[in-house]
Amino acid sequence: MTNAYDEAYRRSIEDPEGFWGEIAEDVRWIKKWDKVLDDTNKPFYRWFTGGELNTCYNALDRHVEEGRADQAALIYDSPVTGNTVKTFTFRELRDEVAKFAGVLVANGVGKGDRVIIYMPMVPEAAIAMLACARIGAVHSVVFGGFASNELAVRIDDAKPKLIITASCGIEVSRVIEYMPLLNGAIDLAKHKPDGCIVLQRPEAKAELTERRDVDWSEAMEGAEAVDCVPVLATDPLYILYTSGTTGEPKGVVRDNGGHLVALKWSMKNVYGVEPGDVYWAASDVGWVVGHSYIVYAPLFHGCTSILYEGKPVGTPDAGAFWRVISDHKVNVLFTAPTAFRAIKREDPDGLLMKDYDLSSFRYLFLAGERTDPDTLHWAEEKIGVPVIDHWWQTETGWAIAANCVGLHQFPVKPGSPTKAAPGWNVRILNAENEPVKTGDIGALCVKLPLPPSSLPTLWNADDRFVESYLKEFPGHYKTEDAGYRDEDGYLYIMARTDDIINVAGHRLSTGGMEEVLANHPDVAECAVIGVADDLKGQLPVGFLVLKAGVTKDHTEIVSEVVAMVREQIGPVAAFKQAVVVNGLPKTRSGKILRGTMQKIADNEEYKMPATIDDPAVLDEMDEALQGIGYASAREG
Ligand code: COA
Ligand code: AMP
Repeated sequence: MTNAYDEAYRRSIEDPEGFWGEIAEDVRWIKKWDKVLDDTNKPFYRWFTGGELNTCYNALDRHVEEGRADQAALIYDSPVTGNTVKTFTFRELRDEVAKFAGVLVANGVGKGDRVIIYMPMVPEAAIAMLACARIGAVHSVVFGGFASNELAVRIDDAKPKLIITASCGIEVSRVIEYMPLLNGAIDLAKHKPDGCIVLQRPEAKAELTERRDVDWSEAMEGAEAVDCVPVLATDPLYILYTSGTTGEPKGVVRDNGGHLVALKWSMKNVYGVEPGDVYWAASDVGWVVGHSYIVYAPLFHGCTSILYEGKPVGTPDAGAFWRVISDHKVNVLFTAPTAFRAIKREDPDGLLMKDYDLSSFRYLFLAGERTDPDTLHWAEEKIGVPVIDHWWQTETGWAIAANCVGLHQFPVKPGSPTKAAPGWNVRILNAENEPVKTGDIGALCVKLPLPPSSLPTLWNADDRFVESYLKEFPGHYKTEDAGYRDEDGYLYIMARTDDIINVAGHRLSTGGMEEVLANHPDVAECAVIGVADDLKGQLPVGFLVLKAGVTKDHTEIVSEVVAMVREQIGPVAAFKQAVVVNGLPKTRSGKILRGTMQKIADNEEYKMPATIDDPAVLDEMDEALQGIGYASAREG
């Protein structure tokens, strides 16, 4: 028997133009599209070509005009600033955004100009994003946990006219000043922005640079509200940088039209949410989850969105999530499994839950990394609402696979994000570009065209887009995840096929960390792998081979490389462990045997690779790992 999911999925694959064309009627257009799906420049596909609209209008003005003016649009909840709570109705948020858009215009920003937003989790971050959308400027939000060097790389790639920042972020109780990081980045970057707008927070005032920096509040005082400008559906809304296989991040481009259509649709159909519901994505505006499900999709759908400046534990305790759900009557929470592992570790019996009224809570959605069955069962049992794993990427902007509860709720199978979402023709392929058998592991790919909201290209890098995603499996997008499909059509996401590791739901490149380690004057050769960690899923561990003749104390070298990664990539890399070894395990042709290294570190059985050059290095590596708390189960 078919259900609404089966029907939607079938139609989305057989008739994507009909399917998305109908859905697109649900958003407000200034000018209707000429073509739903434009495939005249394959392998580049574009959605809703010729259409004109405004993303900010659909997020805010539309709801003010259509009866939601006094409904809460955004609730800022910040335990780290003495439990501040600030609510913006749709009307208030529209007015703030329109005024800040006026500030942008007054500072020379126009349609198509890029604006970098380097901010903590404050409502002004969302206001800045929406203000860019209002005037057709392209925002690029950089996560606050990245250091100057990473910010500089993004400045040089995006070439922003303006940078918007705040004086500080707050990590539990640690105040992190942003201005030294921003100044460092601007010094390092070749491209210099025309100016910066700085939100002064009371926890730390920033010293402004004359003729470059403008105070947010002062600029807002004299600002004139500006209206939404029409943009093409295919114009870029934002660039979001994500880790690639080198230290050079990929600038994922999101368009206006496809993004709006797919994200609004996902609220009801993937998350089972109605306009007026309260939706909380406990993530950060610096990640794609924050873009899609803190700022854009809930507002497109007329929901109240929560912007939470705090952690799952420590602000002040493991009951923080329950407190927010109860205070704001949250219906749906979306976060990363690592957050629940942190809560479970501190409050294994879920005792803190009992202090709060969770009657509004309907669904918990998890993504960013695999949901391990332990965490899934714990959450299901303690909270008593369906716990739904779903799989997606920065590149896609929304779920590739999910239990689409708004269409049909399938039974949950632990370890699986359920089935491909409508629009995603997921295929599991072998090296010959052929589908593998049911149950066999292969490369998770998506047959082109990708549905609306997925990346049309990489910023200023069409060739890299094709090379990275479209070349290896002709006619398909390569997700860089490996996995399989079972006999019921459920997908299982097993591992990345590149050097990306997943640390506390954050996507990081080990190649990028190796580039930093290799710059240490005493390091001849190095490798970084992700080892399994009970809390964060994975943690990076570095292996260093020193140059001949180096006599310096190894612990000193290790602390230096740890500091270098923190300084050059940022604290978010969570790179705290490295060992010195005499050699790296390699094949005779010189390829580092990372898979074997990882198995040793994770205490998994492994086979001695037939092509290994010097098996003795494996014993040495094993010993070094045991020295820092990891051990191996060597095969006999
Ligand atoms: N600005 C500056 N520093 C930041 C930062 C920011 N925005 N975000 C994180 N950091 C720092 C942290 O303070 C920490 O520093 P430390 O090494 O000095 O302790 C480091 O970066 C690593 O951060 P994180 O991996 O987040 O670890 P944590 O120990 O602070 O918290 C969790 C662990 C599990 C509670 C936390 O990772 C979490 O809530 N994760 C939710 C996952 C999430 O939001 N994923 C996004 C995709 S859904
Ligand atoms: P990001 O681009 O930061 O969202 O990271 C995307 C990557 O995170 C994916 O390619 C996967 O490797 C991993 N990921 C995200 N969600 C899931 C999930 N539900 N299950 C397994 N892996 C996931």
